[in-house]
Amino acid sequence: MLRDMNYRRLGRSGLKVSELSFGSWVTYGNQLDSNAARECMAAAWDAGVNFFDNAEVYAAGKSEELMGEALAQLGWPRLKYVVSTKFFWGITDGPNEKATLNRKYLMNAIDGSLKRLRLEYVDLVYCHRADPNTPIEETVWAMHDMIERGKALYWGTSEWTAAEIAAAWNIAERHHLRKPVVEQPEYNIFHRKRVEQEYKRLYEDIGLGLTTWSPLASGLLTGKYRDGVPPGSRGAIPRMQFLVADLTDKAKNDAVGKLAKIAGELGCTLAQLAIAWCARNPNVSTVITGASRVAQVGENLKAAAVIPKLTPEVMAAIDAVTAPLAG
Ligand SMILES: NC(=O)c1ccc[n+]([C@@H]2O[C@H](COP(=O)([O-])OP(=O)(O)OC[C@H]3O[C@@H](n4cnc5c(N)ncnc54)[C@H](OP(=O)(O)O)[C@@H]3O)[C@@H](O)[C@H]2O)c1
Repeated sequence: MLRDMNYRRLGRSGLKVSELSFGSWVTYGNQLDSNAARECMAAAWDAGVNFFDNAEVYAAGKSEELMGEALAQLGWPRLKYVVSTKFFWGITDGPNEKATLNRKYLMNAIDGSLKRLRLEYVDLVYCHRADPNTPIEETVWAMHDMIERGKALYWGTSEWTAAEIAAAWNIAERHHLRKPVVEQPEYNIFHRKRVEQEYKRLYEDIGLGLTTWSPLASGLLTGKYRDGVPPGSRGAIPRMQFLVADLTDKAKNDAVGKLAKIAGELGCTLAQLAIAWCARNPNVSTVITGASRVAQVGENLKAAAVIPKLTPEVMAAIDAVTAPLAG
């Protein structure tokens, strides 16, 4: 099969990930049962995806269970795919089980995730948020030990400040420990600052890679919220109500209407334009896409063919309608 997917190095590491990847937040265990979860992964795989993102906290462990079951059924060779998980929030109650990156929690959490994923190791493990109540040095040592014990291959952070990432990297450098190689930040047409400004120095200084999330701003950038919240969408899920004000923001939805024209001129859909826009940034190693239906996976991953169409002129046209609204 002829594929448009390219593979990029995860920052300065040698690991190669598909420029578009697939994640399971909100969907696995909530919107998708085990068959649909497997079908989405199979569709992503067929489009050339080799990286599947997960987290301990997604559906309180259920998302890892579904992905583990799907991987067992799909039977792909372990060398051919990359799986991640993330730790911080925890899924059981107790002073060392919630909102922490202390050594005790981390060393226990990885064993639970491996069991649920039915894997001997994960390729990537993220500190899902920063923990101001644990010394960064303690966390760096725990991540190093996780790798040394063969339970993970690489580690990184998610939504850490540039200063926190640099501190972790410097501790690892000083003690000859495994360094964080990747950060997982939100990045889309309406959410840019951290990736484009705050982290700028880190790409060159420490070779930071990026696996970015919410390329469609949870669906806003598909145009589906232009007339309010449609039934069956993420915005209609009771526990996702915190997103609704942004999803239905009038100025952003007006801008999305203008983006639809640009997408039309390029011969692609809005979702494809928005996903390709993220991948157009050379500091992005992979854009993690999400989907609640197999058809969305098919549509979204065709964005790989749109990336080369985003010329400087097209990027300027996108900026002209969205940059003033972007945070
Ligand atoms: N590190 C972190 O803190 C963090 C946070 C969030 C996400 N992530 C990762 O990033 C991944 C992607 O994030 P995300 O799910 O927020 O991505 P997103 O692309 O912004 O939103 C995906 C959602 O938009 C809707 N959608 C997708 N394609 C569509 C299409 N073609 N047409 C219409 N609607 C479409 C679907 O929801 P509905 O159909 O239900 O409307 C889908 O679940 C997650 O799975 C997770 O792995 C990480």
